Amino acid sequence: MDRIVVIDYGSQYTMLLARRIRELGVLCTVEQADSVRVDSDVKGLILSGGPQSVYEPNALSLSSEFLDSSIPVLGICYGMHLMVKQLGGEVSKGSKAEYGLTGVVFAEPEIFNVPSRITTWMSHGDEVTGLPKGYRVIAQSVGGIVAGITDGRNFALQFHPEVHHTQFGSDLIAHFLFNVCKVSRDWRISDFAQEQIEKIKKIVGTKRVVAGLSGGVDSTVAAVLTARAIGNRLTGIFVNHGLMRKNEEIEVPRTLEALGVKLITVDASDLFFEKLKGVSDPEMKRKIIGENFIRVFEKQAKEIDADFLLQGTIYSDVIESAASSRSSDKIKSHHNVGGLPEEMNLSLLEPIRELFKDEVRVLGRELGIASSLVDRQPFPGPGLGVRILGDIDREKARILKEVDAIFLNCLNEAGLKSVWQAFAVLLPLRSVGVKGDRRAYGYVVSLRAVHSAEGMTASWYEVPHDVLREASARITSQVPEVGRVVFDITDKPPATIEWE
Ligand code: XMP
Repeated sequence: MDRIVVIDYGSQYTMLLARRIRELGVLCTVEQADSVRVDSDVKGLILSGGPQSVYEPNALSLSSEFLDSSIPVLGICYGMHLMVKQLGGEVSKGSKAEYGLTGVVFAEPEIFNVPSRITTWMSHGDEVTGLPKGYRVIAQSVGGIVAGITDGRNFALQFHPEVHHTQFGSDLIAHFLFNVCKVSRDWRISDFAQEQIEKIKKIVGTKRVVAGLSGGVDSTVAAVLTARAIGNRLTGIFVNHGLMRKNEEIEVPRTLEALGVKLITVDASDLFFEKLKGVSDPEMKRKIIGENFIRVFEKQAKEIDADFLLQGTIYSDVIESAASSRSSDKIKSHHNVGGLPEEMNLSLLEPIRELFKDEVRVLGRELGIASSLVDRQPFPGPGLGVRILGDIDREKARILKEVDAIFLNCLNEAGLKSVWQAFAVLLPLRSVGVKGDRRAYGYVVSLRAVHSAEGMTASWYEVPHDVLREASARITSQVPEVGRVVFDITDKPPATIEWE
């Protein structure tokens, strides 16, 4: 199969670039700049952007053999600067940096079959100030900076065609793939599944793999994929902390086992409720849940004698954990990203690390996982622990599970499939009401429904009034402990999706 190699120079958009290529039906691998290998199946090279300047002392470079070979190269931003420098042109610190939306005018729009002026996404300080021999300018930014060059076979762009703000970005990439590299459009997600299965077989050999499974989309897809590769040498551990949605402690193990994943189920809910008793600080609750989860998991995992730990890390987790390790921008400690124990001496296995959420869903369907599971909403690792405000006990968890299930049922019955995430929150308040002519004094619950892409930002979902009315009526009649139902109309930012 024809393949495109993206060489990663550290751009935050590298994986997006790989994704755009996959969307066009072309096999693509991402290789690190210092270890790239080009085999005979490679039909094109794309050099990503990156945070460095090509003149920095330790700037990542490109072996000139790649530029001299017959394989077409597309350089993007830093990749463009590298090509130019390596081929004897000149790159300088720009007089003005260009960031964000920037107009670009094509002198030869017919090359890419795009309009002569498009809006693009720029993010650069350096610029091309001298062309390599044989190259010509085919596009300039409205600020007069070189935005596109070619020698007829290789191309370089100053802007990012992979970012969706760039108009005709996918068309530009498609032109390079199909008209310049002449690759065939023959990659499908089933190929990805097969490649990963082979890779897992090779890496794991006859050893054992252990995984913490919660029934979430990512860990389930990773587990089913791994089970296809190594069968029952994968053991999933399902830790029930008592803070799952209603009936999940029964349904999740059943579903995973039906998908061929060997599973150990541990009911640790007593331990969690005991440790959480009287604790109301949100970060403290997360910490307790996270730590005890690991402790329970570790105890089980030790008995399995595994060499690998499988995690359903996906690309947005990689971005988020990188961002949160950078400095102070950690907003909440997401316990299931990264942090399982080092002293267990397990190597990490992360077969879906390069995929975006919607690609994971497509892969899940390809693996035969039911849509009720593949399309399920995200659910936080600490579960209802971050939806019971104030201190937590088993009774409050029971009440919230009932309320949450009623709300989700109402949304389902109304056919509101496009809600990205919806749930109920139990507030540490009671309010006065009247039920059957008697004074009542019940809990306040808040319902929340949001629209989001990847959870980084969100807007509250306008659930139709009749659906809210029905949910409120059912909740207050079926859950007698609840006296009042409110609906959360706050976006993220300024709020977060979860209340804690
Ligand atoms: P926030 O509340 O940060 O949530 O706006 C964004 C998305 O992340 C989920 N979330 C978590 N997921 N472990 C997780 O796996 C966690 O600790 C956690 N906290 C929040 C949240 O449900 C939403 O989808």
